[in-house]
Amino acid sequence: MPQQLSDHVRLGDDLTSVVILDQTLLPNEVKYLTLREPEEMFEAIRLLRVRGAPAIGICAGYCLAALAQQRRDLPSGEFAAQLHRLSAYLNSSRPTAVNLSWALNRLGRLAHSMADAAPAAVAAALREEAAAIHKEDIAMCRAISEHGLTLIKDGDGILTHCNAGPLATSRYGTALGPLLLGTERGMNFRVFADETRPLLQGARLTAYELDKAGVDVTLICDNMASMAMKNGWVNACFVGCDRVAANGDAANKIGTSGVAILAKHYGIPFYVLGPTSTIDLSCPTGDDIQIELRDPEEIRSKFYVQPMAPAGVKCWNPAFDVTDHTLISGIVTEKGVCRPPYAQSLAALFR
Ligand code: MRU
Repeated sequence: MPQQLSDHVRLGDDLTSVVILDQTLLPNEVKYLTLREPEEMFEAIRLLRVRGAPAIGICAGYCLAALAQQRRDLPSGEFAAQLHRLSAYLNSSRPTAVNLSWALNRLGRLAHSMADAAPAAVAAALREEAAAIHKEDIAMCRAISEHGLTLIKDGDGILTHCNAGPLATSRYGTALGPLLLGTERGMNFRVFADETRPLLQGARLTAYELDKAGVDVTLICDNMASMAMKNGWVNACFVGCDRVAANGDAANKIGTSGVAILAKHYGIPFYVLGPTSTIDLSCPTGDDIQIELRDPEEIRSKFYVQPMAPAGVKCWNPAFDVTDHTLISGIVTEKGVCRPPYAQSLAALFR
């Protein structure tokens, strides 16, 4: 594991930059990047150098704080205008994970409330707020892990899709949190990690994190999940989420909804784990969630020595799908396990 997994996104020591572990190079290379320019920050999020809904939010918070610090000598009006523009720019890097706009809006509201303060003071406050988001995420992951652990028992087989571990968050992760916490407590799980085409977060990141943590992990291709379930190897499915609508429909990495449909067929409970910052009550249903469409080359040629499809063949590459709430056995947040009907149980979280 990288020396400090919980530190894979942080503010640079100079306070004007953000340091991230480049997740696109894992598992082969552990390399940290220093982001200074808005374009570098945008690109790091867009290209998944930093990825996973909570980690994107944490990173965006630090990015805006660093950009504010760089501009602290500007006149107040110009400082505020630039901050507003930069926040909108960072927010446009990826559309689906709500944590990005959630974190940027949180910093934006703070800056707005300090309209009369000197830019240097606003920059310092934004820095503290970004650090608070990071710290809260650590606590949320821990609480999600505790609640998730009540849903499984020693020796269980768990299937997961994509990566919702420490690299996608701050520490422990969401879907992987109960597995890592349980392992720390001496429990044993057999985890099946879908490789997660086309960007292979399951193979490159989940298998890497679980293996390094001493968890029994078996990597499978996405189309093998059905057989693993049929063989009786899977007691529960744990996945993360990028945006949960008010009715419980949950957007997560492309392929997640297929896992949920399979789980229903085989009578296996399917759980979505994520912090309340990923719940978007302003989104009535999954139909209102914008799904990111990505570069066809991720399907045609990326990760292959040679292209594995005819050059220019038409591709459709949605990065996420929405799992219908009727397929979800429970949504695990830091406040506990929400059960259907989700319109009520999710709304209650915010009262
Ligand atoms: O495109 P990615 O790698 O950012 O997608 C990540 C996922 O879909 C995760 O499951 C989700 O963000 C939850 S991370 C705790």
